[in-house]
Amino acid sequence: MSAPDNAAAKLHPETRLVHAGILRSQYGETSEALFLTQGHVYDNAAQAEGRFLNTDPGFQYGRLSNPTVAMLEERMAAFEGAKACRATATGMAAVTAAVMAPVRAGDHVVAASALFGSCRYIVEDHLPRYGVETTLVDGTDIEAWRKAVKPNTKVFFLESPSNPTLEVIDIPAVAKIAKEAGAILVVDNVFATPLFQRPLELGADIVVYSATKHIDGQGRCLGGLILGSKKLIEGDIQQFLRQTGPALSPFNAWVMLKSLETLPLRIGKQAENATRVADWLAAHSVPSRVIFCGHKSHPQAEIIARQMSGPSTLIAFEVPGGKEGAYRLLDACRLIRISNNLGDAKSLIVHPATTTHQRFTPEVRAAMGVTDGLIRLSIGLEHPDDLIADLEQALAKV
Ligand SMILES: Cc1ncc(COP(=O)(O)O)c(C=O)c1O
Repeated sequence: MSAPDNAAAKLHPETRLVHAGILRSQYGETSEALFLTQGHVYDNAAQAEGRFLNTDPGFQYGRLSNPTVAMLEERMAAFEGAKACRATATGMAAVTAAVMAPVRAGDHVVAASALFGSCRYIVEDHLPRYGVETTLVDGTDIEAWRKAVKPNTKVFFLESPSNPTLEVIDIPAVAKIAKEAGAILVVDNVFATPLFQRPLELGADIVVYSATKHIDGQGRCLGGLILGSKKLIEGDIQQFLRQTGPALSPFNAWVMLKSLETLPLRIGKQAENATRVADWLAAHSVPSRVIFCGHKSHPQAEIIARQMSGPSTLIAFEVPGGKEGAYRLLDACRLIRISNNLGDAKSLIVHPATTTHQRFTPEVRAAMGVTDGLIRLSIGLEHPDDLIADLEQALAKV
């Protein structure tokens, strides 16, 4: 098996997504091989010992690493400009490892309050069970991050843009406060995608993805990725993953490896389609509010101009009539399907208040901006005229 082509890291991002990380077997396959194996055999007992001591390079056991998973990790690291990457079975496994592994009982975590429901659960409900203090702040209020810092603060965590309200946080400003506090900044970059926002270059220490979303991008596999420096990824985080075991299946890694080859094409086109649909929605009389990262009316448009190179593929908008108005719209959509997934080739629509953010009280939802009339729309690869026609007939029924 040949070694990864490190020279690929010097190439353009699109080229890296096609070539970086490839490990060719003795058969010289053009497409990446799928190594569907739990373990690996050793030539002799001493080699087995060397693998466990890390003095002999090579693979041991699927919970720790796998050649196909390693290709995905290497390719993503080359694309993201990270020194190390670890893949996980889901996006939540990546978030949990990134936020939990670096802390101990008695430490403190500060997080933005506008988070995906499960991300907020990890911070608000899960960490305190293990003696980790947590503080939720309005992520857009930079002074609130500074005020939340305590001597035991070890991790800052944020999503930007957030799910589902597309709230955008000034990553360099938060990174500066984290650094001064001696804490690490973990950024969930799912909504921005690795194409449009590069948190490590903006000062973050760790970036996490639900690879389930745009990275697979075709609704097939769950997966997660954690990227950062060798010190952070190969320290506590790697230990946490090895010992607790949320390993990504080699099959899912193989699907995602192939997906990375087309990521810029897919996301570029989806963002272009999203812009068409968002412009049309903003000009329509029914939605009372349209939130889109490509619009000047976005509350954090000035930050977006500084830290994002594209608008994402998500749109949030509000319809009159609260939950009933939202349900009328969703139930009238024919082409756009109701689903809590996002970042897919198929356009998907969801009512966050009754699904992804259902478990919160109405007061907490209101504070997060998740109103009863809020809709989240993920734009896919269909022709935008067909999406607009579907929304037009559906909005007429609200
Ligand atoms: C922002 C964000 N982070 C993490 C996740 C979790 O990803 P997964 O469903 O792959 O566990 C999601 C899922 O929707 C998400 O939207």
